[in-house]
Amino acid sequence: MDAYGKDFSALYNNRWGFYGVKMWPFLSEVIGRHQPEAETWLDLCCGAGSLLEMVCENGFSATGVDISRHQLKYARENAPCAKLVHADVREFSLPEKFDVITCMFDSLNYLTTKRDLTRAFRRARHHLHDEGLFIFDVNTFEGLRSRWCSVSTIREPDRMVIMDGSFDERRALGRSLITGFIKEGRLWRRFEEEHVERGYTAQELDDLLEGTGFSFRKYDSERLSRPRKDSARLLYVCRRQ
Ligand SMILES: C[S@@+](CC[C@H](N)C(=O)[O-])C[C@H]1O[C@@H](n2cnc3c(N)ncnc32)[C@H](O)[C@@H]1O
Repeated sequence: MDAYGKDFSALYNNRWGFYGVKMWPFLSEVIGRHQPEAETWLDLCCGAGSLLEMVCENGFSATGVDISRHQLKYARENAPCAKLVHADVREFSLPEKFDVITCMFDSLNYLTTKRDLTRAFRRARHHLHDEGLFIFDVNTFEGLRSRWCSVSTIREPDRMVIMDGSFDERRALGRSLITGFIKEGRLWRRFEEEHVERGYTAQELDDLLEGTGFSFRKYDSERLSRPRKDSARLLYVCRRQ
């Protein structure tokens, strides 16, 4: 039931492998304004590599880290020029530092304790050059509360997927139980995964970042404007303090 196994990663690459392209105009504008000399870029929780593809195409030296070997297989296909590392964002260690570090699209929500999120922030800070930028976006508590309590389905000729979501307000945990069926000849093979994300409030994120030694500016990640009380996603642009 580990998340991002073979079948879900294939679905992810097909359905959600657009986020890097969507965020690229904003990211490249921020980098151009605040870190115009940037050359090296580390994408944490790189998934199927959609952002790495943009990073490579735009001439940066690109490295990706992800805990799922299946996601990394797609990243290898989508961004062949990137260096890929199979590692946990809470404890990775690379021999170099980077001008830009990103971690996009729900990835940090998979760290469901403040301790684990702090470990990831510390690792990011350790791998960032003094003037470098660390940029990430996450679902907020409000985002998971308002969006995860529903059932959605994907129906394709050879694949059917049911995503059954719920949110535990007391623990701030969203769960999506994913049941999929892949057509193989005349039979349908079943797979299951459970995805658990924690929704953090802006105040919690601010406190953890300050405690780790980052200063930051934050945005509503969907409108790319000032955050609102009910922002479902937040994007942070951070520097070492
Ligand atoms: C929603 S996907 C986002 C992928 C990519 N950043 C994007 O924008 O498409 C979340 C990714 O985080 C990875 N991930 C989750 N927990 C992780 C951890 N502890 N260490 C490294 N990667 C992790 C998953 O394997 C998955 O590829």
